[in-house]
Amino acid sequence: RRYSLSADIVAEHKIRSRFQPETRFIYNGFHQADLYTDGVAKVLPEGQLQLTNGSRQSMGHAFFKKPFEFTSAESLSFSTHFVCALVPKPGSGGHGIAFVLSASIDLSHADATQYLGLFNISTQGNSSSHLVAVELDTALSAEFDDKNANHVGINVNSLFSIESASTAYFSDIKGKNESIELSSGDPIQVWVNYRGNMLNVSMAPLKNQKPSQPLLSSSIHLSENFPDRKIFIGFSGATGTLISYQYILGWSFSGNSVSLQRLDATKLPRVPPHK
Ligand SMILES: *[C@@H]1O[C@H](CO)[C@@H](O)[C@H](O)[C@H]1NC(C)=O
Ligand SMILES: *[C@@H]1O[C@H](CO)[C@@H](O)[C@H](O)[C@H]1NC(C)=O
Ligand SMILES: *[C@@H]1O[C@H](CO)[C@@H](O)[C@H](O)[C@H]1NC(C)=O
Repeated sequence: RRYSLSADIVAEHKIRSRFQPETRFIYNGFHQADLYTDGVAKVLPEGQLQLTNGSRQSMGHAFFKKPFEFTSAESLSFSTHFVCALVPKPGSGGHGIAFVLSASIDLSHADATQYLGLFNISTQGNSSSHLVAVELDTALSAEFDDKNANHVGINVNSLFSIESASTAYFSDIKGKNESIELSSGDPIQVWVNYRGNMLNVSMAPLKNQKPSQPLLSSSIHLSENFPDRKIFIGFSGATGTLISYQYILGWSFSGNSVSLQRLDATKLPRVPPHK
């Protein structure tokens, strides 16, 4: 069997994990992608996944249609790599985006603004939300103890992050953290890795390799949050009075210790120009 390079979807039972369905795909641009979208989210003609479109008080979601399944807590692991770009409207900023792991594919009852399209006032902080997110937050929401208007956080059923840091990447050349401006409009790489109950988040500018050290590393028992052993994976973006255009340019995912395919920066659609 052969798979196309731009949309390689493999979900099959392999001998070494006979009862474990595998999820693996790579999208260098989203033309061929099998996504469920709602809100203002859509795939543009050049292949960019646009989560929000510069309108106020809006949100958009995009999920891979098939849930990622796991058979036991021990076997649950995944790696993902995506490239995003957040282009603020002049003098504005947007509220940010999130990589989402959710028991439900339907987040249409969530709220925009500081709820990031993830929760509403009644699901926020509620363990029955069954939602874990890596937020790339571009607004300071004092009510959720945000540290600044440019941070990354790991969120479990809540907008209060269990771990967060100012957006940065570890530079292996300089041996120290270098800051990243999420709202620069430039493409930014993000990796999320989960294995052995550790969730790591790493970031880097588009031209860089994956840093040897993650920005965030948190102990978390993900399987406990997904008793049905099915997880929808995708993205959420939200605006409020702060507005931006929020894009995902490419996304690779691999579940249950299948190796992750590399995104090819030269094949990604460009960030659409904005005046
Ligand atoms: C919050 O979201 C839940 C789950 O989608 C929905 O049932 C509920 O009606 C929403 N509540 C509000 C106040 O919007
Ligand atoms: C880089 O930032 C992270 C998150 O704030 C921190 O845990 C880590 O110690 C920093 N690394 C260095 C080398 O300063
Ligand atoms: C997370 O990062 C730590 C520290 O660098 C590393 O020891 C661990 O193997 C990483 N785990 C994953 C799943 O990437």
